[in-house]
Amino acid sequence: MAPRETTTPPIPAPRRRAAAPDRSTLDAGERLQPDDLRELQLRRLRWTLRHAYDNVPFYRERFDAAGVRPEDCRTLADLARFPTTTKDDLRAHYPYGMLAVPRERVARLHASSGTTGRPTVVASTRRDVDTWADLVARSLRAAGARPGDRVHVAYGYGMFTGGLGAHYGAERLGCTVVPVSGGQTARQVHLIRDLRPEVIMVTPSYLLTILDEFERQGVDPRSTSLRVGVLGAEPWTEAMRAEIEDRFDIDAVDIYGLSEIMGPGVASECVETKDGPTVWEDHFLPEVVDPATGTALPDGSRGELLLTTLTRQALPVIRYRTRDLTRLLPGTARAMRRMDRVTGRSDDMLIVRGVNLFPTQVEEAVLGVAGLAPHFLLHLTREGRLDRLTVRVEARPDCPAERRGPAAAQLAEAVRTAAGVGVEVEVADPGTLERSAGKSRRVVDDRPA
Ligand code: DLL
Repeated sequence: MAPRETTTPPIPAPRRRAAAPDRSTLDAGERLQPDDLRELQLRRLRWTLRHAYDNVPFYRERFDAAGVRPEDCRTLADLARFPTTTKDDLRAHYPYGMLAVPRERVARLHASSGTTGRPTVVASTRRDVDTWADLVARSLRAAGARPGDRVHVAYGYGMFTGGLGAHYGAERLGCTVVPVSGGQTARQVHLIRDLRPEVIMVTPSYLLTILDEFERQGVDPRSTSLRVGVLGAEPWTEAMRAEIEDRFDIDAVDIYGLSEIMGPGVASECVETKDGPTVWEDHFLPEVVDPATGTALPDGSRGELLLTTLTRQALPVIRYRTRDLTRLLPGTARAMRRMDRVTGRSDDMLIVRGVNLFPTQVEEAVLGVAGLAPHFLLHLTREGRLDRLTVRVEARPDCPAERRGPAAAQLAEAVRTAAGVGVEVEVADPGTLERSAGKSRRVVDDRPA
C-alpha cells in the first residue's frame, strides 16, 4: 500500500534565531513598568477626551447625548462609559469634519483605501508624524532591525499609510531606506540582489510573489542578504510565517496598524518571542468587545478590537471599532499587552450555507497540503438557494500533474475539518491567479445581493 499522505504536516514553531535587543536600547516608553504605564495612559486618555470634546463637534454631541463629560474619566475602566466611533462616523465627516486642530496645523494627509463609498481622511500634525516615526522605528527595532541596516520598503507609497509610514520609521531608526514601493516585481528582485538590504517591509502576500520571482529568475531566495521581514497590512497565518521563513531564510514578524488610528506601527511583534504584536500602549489604549453587542470582554477573550488614541493631536479617535478580530494577551518581551494575530476582519468573514469561514482558515489548510502553493482565491456563487464556494488554488511549480487530484481532495477535506463547510477545489497552473502588489484580494462574491 502506498504510504498515506499527511494532510496537515505540523506547523514548525517559529525559529528563534534573533536575540532580544539589549534592554538599554529600548526607548523610555518601552521600559515603563505596568503601574507607571497605567498612570501615563490615564493622564493621556483624559487629555485626549478633553481635546476631542473641546475641538470636535461630533465628539461633543456624542458625549453629551451619552451623558458623559471628559472629567468623568477617573480610571481607565471609565472609558467604557464613552460612546464608540465607527468608520461610518469618520466617513460622514469627510474630509475635515473630525479635525481637532486648525487645518493649517495639519502636516500630512493620508486616506484609507475606500473600496466602498467615500474614503476616510487621516490627518497628522508635525508632532503626530514624529510620534508615528518613533513608533515604526520602535517596531523595526523590536523586529530585529538595527541602525545602519538597509531597509527595502515595498509597501505602496501614496495615500496608503504603508510606504511613507515605513519610510519615516526606518529613517528614524537610522537605517538606509530603499523606497521601492509596490509593483514591478522583477525590479524588486534586481534591487534586492544589487543593493543587498537586510530588512524588507512588505505585505506577506506580495513577499510571496517576490519569492516566486526569485525562483523564476533562477536565484535561490535563501541566498539573499535579507535577515528580517516586517510584514503586515493584511491577515496572515503561522503556516504562512513558516513558509516565508523557510523559503527566504529570514525572521518574519507581524506589524499591525490602520490608517484611521495612525498607520503601520500601532502594534508590532518582538522577534525574540514571535507571539503576536505588542500593542504600543503608551500611545493607544486597546479594548476587546463582543462584535455583535459591543459589550466589553475580559483580556484573553476573542472579539473585536477597539482602539483609542492617547497622543494624536490632529485626529484623536475614541473607542474606534476596528472590525479586526483578536484577543488581548499579557506582555512577554515587553510589559505592554500583546494582541493575538488578527484572524480576519468581521467584514471579511464569509457565511457559506450558514457556516462562518475566514480566508485565513483556507490559507492554513492550503499550506498543509503538499503540492499546493499559497496563492488562492475564494469564489462564491449561488445555485438555486444554495451557496457554493470554490477554492481556486495554484499548484506549486514542482507539483506533478497526477498529484493535483489528490491535493484537491485533501484540501477540500482539510477545509471541511477546519471550518465544517464543503467546498469545491480547482487546482490551477502555477502563476495563473492574479497577484496584487499590496493587500491580497482573496474573495470574489458573485452571489446575487
Ligand atoms: O494596512 C496600515 C499598515 C501598513 C499596517 C503596513 C501594517 C503594515 P489600512 O489600509 O487602513 O492600514 O488597513 C488597516 O488592515 O484594520 C486590518 O484589517 C488589516 N491589517 C493591518 N495590519 C494587519 C496585520 C494599513 N498585521 C486594516 N494582520 C486593519 C492582520 C492587518 N490584518
